[in-house]
Amino acid sequence: MDHPFGIDFGGTGIKGAPVDLAAGEFAQERVRIPTPRPATPAAVAAVFAELVASFPASTAPVGVTVPGVVRHGVVHSAANIDPAWIGTDADALFTEATGRDVHVVNDADAAGLAEVRYGAARGRRGLVIVTTLGTGIGSAFVHDGVLVPSSELGHLEIDGHEAEHRAANSAREREGLTMPQWAERLQVFYRHVERLFSPDLFVVGGGISKQSEEFLPLLDLETEIVPAALRNKAGVVGAALYASEGVAEG
Ligand code: BGC
Repeated sequence: MDHPFGIDFGGTGIKGAPVDLAAGEFAQERVRIPTPRPATPAAVAAVFAELVASFPASTAPVGVTVPGVVRHGVVHSAANIDPAWIGTDADALFTEATGRDVHVVNDADAAGLAEVRYGAARGRRGLVIVTTLGTGIGSAFVHDGVLVPSSELGHLEIDGHEAEHRAANSAREREGLTMPQWAERLQVFYRHVERLFSPDLFVVGGGISKQSEEFLPLLDLETEIVPAALRNKAGVVGAALYASEGVAEG
């Protein structure tokens, strides 16, 4: 069976694998290539071509995550990536570079799709807000299983600060915050978001989510909040899912 291919474009590594969508698992072992520096669109496209060429038998669609706003395949923001991405038609660039049908999706939106289909929010109805705590704060709104893309909650301004500058995992590391100190900032962020959107569930992803028992119990929210289940597979699995079924036309 020809499985869709997912690629997760991260700050240090670009990871790809064919994904078995029935199981929500990699169909073959994933390949990882270090992210080129600078990570310009052309340099990254060359890595994608190499990744896809590692699985020559396949012609299935390819999904790719990008840590920025993506509308109809075009990247519109670059908070934590090379500014050359802004205005890049990434669908067209990667389709040309790989010779495959490529669909680009925001990284947090991909994680959101994967968590709702296979992970911590599986089978949950209503509004699920998936957040990723990493270099920035990513967010995905999934309502009754349907993604509403580009929510970008990391850029909410709260108390005069951009939320991700205060509460991303990079802020914890940069400022040497203890978990209780960081949790105070997360409390402000999640409380603000729940007041605005009244979600049914928060899912917390990003690498730090594997230490969730050190900070999630410190939060006092009305909304249930749980750690992500797919961990570092969410980007690849969500990207493949998006390429296969979540693509909005246009
Ligand atoms: C970007 C988002 C991205 C998030 C996590 C933010 O700075 O604006 O598009 O999802 O970081 O990578």
